Amino acid sequence: MKMEMIKLDIRKAACFLAEGAVEGMEKQTKAAHKALEDGTSKGSDFLGWLHLPSSLTPEFLQDIKTTADTLRRECDTIVVAGIGGSYLGARAVIEALGNSFAWLTNKGENPNILFAGNNIGEDYLAELLAYLKGRRFGVINISKSGTTTETALAFRLLRSLCEEERGKETARRVIVAITDAKKGAARTTADKEGYKSYVIPDNVGGRFSVLTPVGLLPIACAGFDIDLLVKGAADMEKHAAEAPYAENIAEQYAAVRNLLYAGGKKIEVLANFQPKLHFMNEWWKQLYGESEGKELKGIFPAAVDFTTDLHSMGQWLQEGERTIFETVISVEQSEHELRFPHDEENLDGLNFLEGKRIDEVNRMAELGTQIAHVDGGVPNIRIVLPRLDAYYLGQLIYFFELGCGISGNVLGVNPFNQPGVEAYKKNMFALLSKPGYEAESEAIRERLKKEA
Ligand code: PA5
Repeated sequence: MKMEMIKLDIRKAACFLAEGAVEGMEKQTKAAHKALEDGTSKGSDFLGWLHLPSSLTPEFLQDIKTTADTLRRECDTIVVAGIGGSYLGARAVIEALGNSFAWLTNKGENPNILFAGNNIGEDYLAELLAYLKGRRFGVINISKSGTTTETALAFRLLRSLCEEERGKETARRVIVAITDAKKGAARTTADKEGYKSYVIPDNVGGRFSVLTPVGLLPIACAGFDIDLLVKGAADMEKHAAEAPYAENIAEQYAAVRNLLYAGGKKIEVLANFQPKLHFMNEWWKQLYGESEGKELKGIFPAAVDFTTDLHSMGQWLQEGERTIFETVISVEQSEHELRFPHDEENLDGLNFLEGKRIDEVNRMAELGTQIAHVDGGVPNIRIVLPRLDAYYLGQLIYFFELGCGISGNVLGVNPFNQPGVEAYKKNMFALLSKPGYEAESEAIRERLKKEA
């Protein structure tokens, strides 16, 4: 199959900017990109993702596939325990490539992939454990720090059930850890129990880790082609390193969104017209939100699934406060062919669509929405994928990662840290009387008493 590069169309956004504004950003954007390449940007000790796709060896990928084969052979269900960057990338790819009803129709050719460790919902966990009871399941425990409460809690429950249901010996074969090389509880347990384990490189932050074992192992377990995913990312890496500014889609994206932001467009709404891309939106939201939202600045990343959300958020998008712009992931070709059916009575008046591909109707919904939103004052950026396959998803992932790194540098923040995430954890631990938090516990209880 012919491989192309995914495309970026900024014309319907550039028309909201002063003439020549995008061209005028060349020097600043190139410098922001170069600062990543030279390792001189803020957070430069977290640039391991930048040349990751091209540095993954066939031997490394084979090792991931061998581990995936073991899990696939020994398990009907695999639970991926992780939160934030430790699960969203894998889920985004698995859902984008999978059959929407795989878990209902699965005839055993692929294990079902479930996700846990990304919430503290008692009902969620209890219902998950009840589902897993009596099943041949395995666990991929993913945590870079190895100490994240949500993931550690789920892992305690899953490990204990796995050992109980499958015996300690089998549990050792079907539990895999992906964590730090040396520190954290996940590492200690893996080493003590002799689990197969992978290291998350020190210089790759969670939200940039989908092309490490964090994303690759679950994706391979689900039966998808990680070689092709990595090839797509590596081709985008090459494109981004070589393309001049006018053709460099990561640089163009970073430049346009910063210009829009400076002009008062404070919210970027990522939209898709394919329900399978829902978790790609979620992954993107984390990538951009955690990377740019700091120092009291940063575009707020929001996401919608169209046409579903045109019936919930459509009114706001069309006529609400004009502080938004829209970025649409557009897929040119669907996998299946289905045509609008004829209905003798034509009670819904839709026979004029008879015989048309459903995809064409969707495409017209997309175009109609673009025209309406642009007319309504919403700048529109389009990212065009020829198909939803592993190769183009690999390109898309790297494009978004690089666009994010460049964009954060243009904005002037450190895109690779997330100091703000600690605030809720500190309060939660104080409220739960974690040892070492005695002073915080007292202070927060005093405060709650006063506020009561
Ligand atoms: O991007 C990030 O760094 C975060 O979202 C982390 O991935 C998330 O907090 C999970 O952390 P850990 O992998 O240490 O459990």
